[in-house]
Amino acid sequence: MQAVLFDLDGVITDTAKYHFQAWKRLASTLSISIDERFNERLKGVSRMDSLKRILEYGGLSNHHFTSIQLEQMAEQKNNDYRQLIQGITPKELLPGISELLTALRSKGIKIALASASKNGPFILERLKIDTFFDSVVDPAKLRKGKPDPEIFLTAAAQLGIDPKECAGIEDSVAGIESILAAGMFAVGVGVPENIGAHFRVASTTELTIDALFSHFKHN
Ligand code: BG6
Ligand code: MG
Repeated sequence: MQAVLFDLDGVITDTAKYHFQAWKRLASTLSISIDERFNERLKGVSRMDSLKRILEYGGLSNHHFTSIQLEQMAEQKNNDYRQLIQGITPKELLPGISELLTALRSKGIKIALASASKNGPFILERLKIDTFFDSVVDPAKLRKGKPDPEIFLTAAAQLGIDPKECAGIEDSVAGIESILAAGMFAVGVGVPENIGAHFRVASTTELTIDALFSHFKHN
C-alpha cells in the first residue's frame, strides 16, 4: 500500500448531513419531500446529477426546466450548503481521521482526495488538514462521476502511484463501485455488506494504519 485515496463527505467529516439539509430545503421549494433513505442515493453523486435525481424522484423530469433554471437550483442548494459549512472547525473531523493522516504521513504513504465535491479544498482548509494532502482531484475536470473509476484513477495518476498499490476509502455505494472499477483496494465506512468492499468498518475509529496494512491485498 503506497497511497490512500480519501473520499471527503462521510469519511473525513460528516458533511453528508449538511448536503442532505440543503437538498431537503431546495426539494421542499418544489413540493418534493426527500428522506434519509432517498439521500443514500445522492451520496458520492455530483451536484447536478443529485438535482436531476431529486427532480425525477418528485416526478418532475429535468426536461421541464431550462439549463439556466437547473443551474439556478443547483446554485441555490450550494449557497445554502456553503452557509452550513462556513463554521466548520477541526472538531468536526470524524474520529480517528487525524491520527490516520498523521500515521500515513510518518510512514511516507501518499495521501490524496478523491471527492466529487467542488467544496473539497475549502473544507480541508477549514478542518486544517489541507497540508496532509499530496494531491486533490478537481472534480470539475472529470468527464464521469462515481461509480465510474475516473476520479480514483486520476488521483493515483496525479500521485504517480500504480492503482494496484492504492487503497480507497468511501462511505457511498457509488464510491465503492468506483474504487473497485479502478482495481484498487476498497475500504467501506458503514457500507452495505453486499457491494464488494474488501474491508468494511462500522466507524472511522477502526481506520487505523495497522488495520489498513493488515487487510490490504492486491486485487
Ligand atoms: C459528494 C457528496 O462528496 O460531493 C454529494 O457525497 C455531493 O452529496 C457531491 O453532491 C458534490 O458536492 P458539491 O460540494 O460540489 O456540491
Ligand atoms: Mg462520501
